[in-house]
Formats: sequence, C-alpha cells, structure tokens
Amino acid sequence: MRSLSGIQPSGRLHLGNYYGAVRQFHKLQEEGHECFYFIANYHAMTTMQDKAQLEQATMHLAMGYLALGIDPNKSVFFVQSDVPQVTELCWILNCVCPVSLMEKGTTYKDKTAKGFSPNMGLFDYPVLQAADIIIYDSTVVPIGADQKQHVEMTRDLAIKFNSVFGETLVVPESLIVPEVAIVPGIDGQKMSKSYGNVIEIFDTPKNTRKRCMQIVTDSTPLEEPKNPDTDNVYALLKLLASPEELQEIAGKYRAGGYGYGHAKDRLSQLVNERFAAAREKYAELEKNPDYLRDVMCEGGRKARAVAEATMQRVRSACGVFRSF
Ligand code: ADP
Ligand code: TRP
Repeated sequence: MRSLSGIQPSGRLHLGNYYGAVRQFHKLQEEGHECFYFIANYHAMTTMQDKAQLEQATMHLAMGYLALGIDPNKSVFFVQSDVPQVTELCWILNCVCPVSLMEKGTTYKDKTAKGFSPNMGLFDYPVLQAADIIIYDSTVVPIGADQKQHVEMTRDLAIKFNSVFGETLVVPESLIVPEVAIVPGIDGQKMSKSYGNVIEIFDTPKNTRKRCMQIVTDSTPLEEPKNPDTDNVYALLKLLASPEELQEIAGKYRAGGYGYGHAKDRLSQLVNERFAAAREKYAELEKNPDYLRDVMCEGGRKARAVAEATMQRVRSACGVFRSF
C-alpha cells in the first residue's frame, strides 16, 4: 500500500485539516506503509497570487506537518514544485481528459461562485491533483470528504489513459474516515480556511479560547436541557474528549444546568492540551530554517526519483520523445 496526500498552503492549519487529513497521514506512517506527503503550492496558486503569502504559507505548512508528526525519515515529505515532472504528467493527462469531466467539478463551481477568478488553473485543478497522485503510483489517498470527487476524477483519468495507451498507471482509492469526514467550523458549516470559521492548530491558548467562545449555538438558557447531537460545540468535543468524558458531557447537556459556555471552555482546554507539544515543536522549527530546507531538499530528491521512473513509463507508453 502506498499512501499519498497533499494540502494547499493557502492559509493556516486548522482542526478540520488535522482530524480530516493529517491524523490519518500520521497513522498510516506509523503503521509502516509507504507514505508520500506534500505541500500543494501549485494548487494554492489557483486562488492565491501573492508572493509573500505563498512563501509564508508554504513554510507554515512545512513546519505544521513536521510538528504534527510527519517524520521525514519515515515518509517522503516534499513540496510539489520540487517535482517538475508532475506538471509534465498534468499536461499529458489533460490530453486524455474530456472537458465535460472538468465541467462537473464542484470545487471549480464553488470557488468561482465565491468570487475567485475562473482561471484555467482552477478549472484544471483536478487534473494536476490526478498527476500528483498517479505519478507516485499511489494506491490510497487519505482525505476529507470534500476531496472525494477529485480522487474519483483521478481514477477516471488513470483508467482512460490505460485504455488509450495500455496498462501503465495505478488506479488509486480514497481513504475517508466517516466520523471526521466533515469537521464543522465555528459557524456549523464545514471548517475551511475560505469560510473564516476555523479553529487554528498553531494559535496561542488565549486565541484558541476566544475562537471556541465564538462557536455558534442555539439560545437555550443555561438551566434548560440541551440536545448534544445538534450542537456545534459537542460536535467538536467528539474529536477531542475521551469516550467517558463525552458521555458525561452528553448527560450534562440533557440534564440542564450546564451551559454552552461550560462546554466551550472545556473544548478550548482540550484543544490547548492536545496541541501543546506540537506547538512547542513548531516554535523550535521556526528557529531552524536551515533544517527545514534540508528536509525539503532531501524529500524533493526522493520524490523526483519516483516521479521520473513513472514518467519514463508514461512517455514510452504514449510515444513522447526525449533526447536526454
Ligand atoms: P480548506 O478547506 O481549509 O482550504 P484544504 O482544502 O487545504 O482545506 O484541505 C486539506 C485537507 O484537509 C484535505 O484532505 C481536506 O479534505 C481536509 N479537510 C479540510 N477541511 C476539513 C474539514 N472541515 N473536515 C474534514 N476534512 C477537512
Ligand atoms: N486538493 C487538495 C486540497 O485542497 C490538495 C491536494 C493537491 C491533494 N493534490 C493532492 C490531496 C493529491 C490529495 C492528493 O486539500
């Protein structure tokens, strides 16, 4: 089994990224599978065209991955743009990709509806993602539910390529953990950088508490019984509290006399405890940009070697000339 996934450096890491994605990346790594994890900086350019922002977000994500336990000695950890072969494969896949497949893309529709300019990169985003996945012969792609369609498009493209040029590409599968497929944000919608509703992982304890206090709840008064199953705070507590504590909190909700403020307070404590060690590690990494650079350089080297081997198969399968 070969696991591969990426995150765009388009903002700061949040609970949705961790529980929906990075936690699974880490689990697969610790189970000893072959893992490839990367920073999707070319993807971020489809919606973010600001040099300083892209540079900063790339470094933030690199430190975040490492602080959350992605170990460059166990996983191949790299930046997308260190593997130029991926844009080459993207072009070749473009040539077998029906426009009608991309027209079904929900990300494109959502992002343009939100006001992002409908550039070709955004339209072609799923083909670049397919190239990312296919170029490492990946078999599983751990992701949150919002990325499911992209992996399905990847499968369609790999199958299409194989039917046109003969069996060459591995057809991957997505890996989605149902309980954390969609982590809600402080407004109850999917937690996402682009909705401004996130609880960040690498924030100060004080800001974390402030964000938790902003979670939207209904207006049931403190004394009255509450339904945990329809509450946003409880939905987030489910990610962090132990089963015993969760049961106890659910009991308190139903009994009344327990306010949303109490639940928010406990949630912020749990977030601050859960990520305290990662935050410390992040602060150490911030002081050591040379180490970070070395890690990226080595990861890029390993990733390029695998990508080039796939590209040799691909070029040869479709008759693309190379004189060197
Ligand atoms: P965002 O929506 O904040 O821009 P990304 O698209 O960069 O997040 O997501 C990176 C990874 O984190 C993807 O695998 C995605 O599915 C996962 N993810 C992001 N937000 C959530 C969420 N709210 N719930 C579950 N998984 C999520
Ligand atoms: N589209 C993914 C996201 O927004 C990021 C991504 C790019 C990715 N390439 C990938 C995820 C390959 C999994 C596999 O989160």
